[in-house]
Amino acid sequence: MARITAGIATSHVPAIGAAIDRGKAREEYWRPVFEGYEWTRKWIAAERPDVVLLVYNDHASAFSLEMIPTFALGCAETFEPADEGFGPRPVPAVQGHPDLAWHIAQSLIMDEFDITIMNRLDVDHGLTVPMSLMFGQPQEWPVRVVPLAVNVVQYPPPTGNRCWMLGEAIRKAILGYAEDLNVQIWGTGGMSHQLQGLRAGLINTPFDTAYLDKLTSDPQALRRIPHIEYLREAGSEGIEMVMWLIMRGALGGRVAELHRHYHVPASNTAVGHLVLQAVS
Ligand SMILES: [Fe+2]
Repeated sequence: MARITAGIATSHVPAIGAAIDRGKAREEYWRPVFEGYEWTRKWIAAERPDVVLLVYNDHASAFSLEMIPTFALGCAETFEPADEGFGPRPVPAVQGHPDLAWHIAQSLIMDEFDITIMNRLDVDHGLTVPMSLMFGQPQEWPVRVVPLAVNVVQYPPPTGNRCWMLGEAIRKAILGYAEDLNVQIWGTGGMSHQLQGLRAGLINTPFDTAYLDKLTSDPQALRRIPHIEYLREAGSEGIEMVMWLIMRGALGGRVAELHRHYHVPASNTAVGHLVLQAVS
C-alpha cells in the first residue's frame, strides 16, 4: 500500500527560482537562503520518494480571474512549466502520476470533498521553485508529482480548517492506494509577506516562528486562525500559509520536526522551511 512518510513546508518565492536559473545562488545575498536547504537536499536524496503531492497556488498563470477553482488536482501525464511573462523557467517538465491522481480524485469526491480535475495544467513558480530547492538543476526531476492548486489569490480563499480537512481526506485516499509508494506531501507558499500597499515588505518573525512551532507542537490551534488574522499578522500574501495545513492534515496525528530553516529577506519576504516526519 502507499505510505505517507514525510511532509515538507517551504516558501516558493519566485526570485529564488530566478537566482537558481541565473547562477546567483552562491552570491552573498542568496547564499544564506540556499544553505538552509542543503540538509533537505541530502535527506531527500536518501529518502527517494516515489511521488510528491505538491500543494501550491497558481499566480494567474494557468488560471485567471475568469476561472478560479478553490482546489484543483493535476491528473495529467505531464505538466509543463508556465510562461509567467519572461518565458517558462528552464526546468524539466513535471511528470505526473495519473493513476494515483485519479484515485485521489475519486476518493475525495466519494468522501464528499468535491475537487476540480485538471487534465492540463501548466505549473508556475509556486510548484517549480520548491522542486528546484529540493532537487537542484537535474535533466529530469527524480520524482513524480501530483499537483494540487489552491486558490489563495482571489478572495475568498479556503479556510485553514477546510484545508486541514482536505489534507485528512487526501491521507485517506493515499493510504487506500494499492501500489507500494513512498509519498511525501509538500505545502508551499508563505511565510509573512505583503507585496503591495502601505505595508508592502511586512515581515512578522514572531508570528512566523510561532506558526512553525505549532505545526509540530499544537497544529490543532492553527486550524482556527481566521483569514483576517493571517492578513493582519502575516500580510496579504501570508494567507498562502493555509496551504501548509493541507500538508499537516495529511501527515496524521504526530510528527517529528527533522529540520527547520527561517531567513529574512528573500526578495521582500520571509522564507520558511520545515521537514516533518510522520510518526503515527
Ligand atoms: Fe505564491
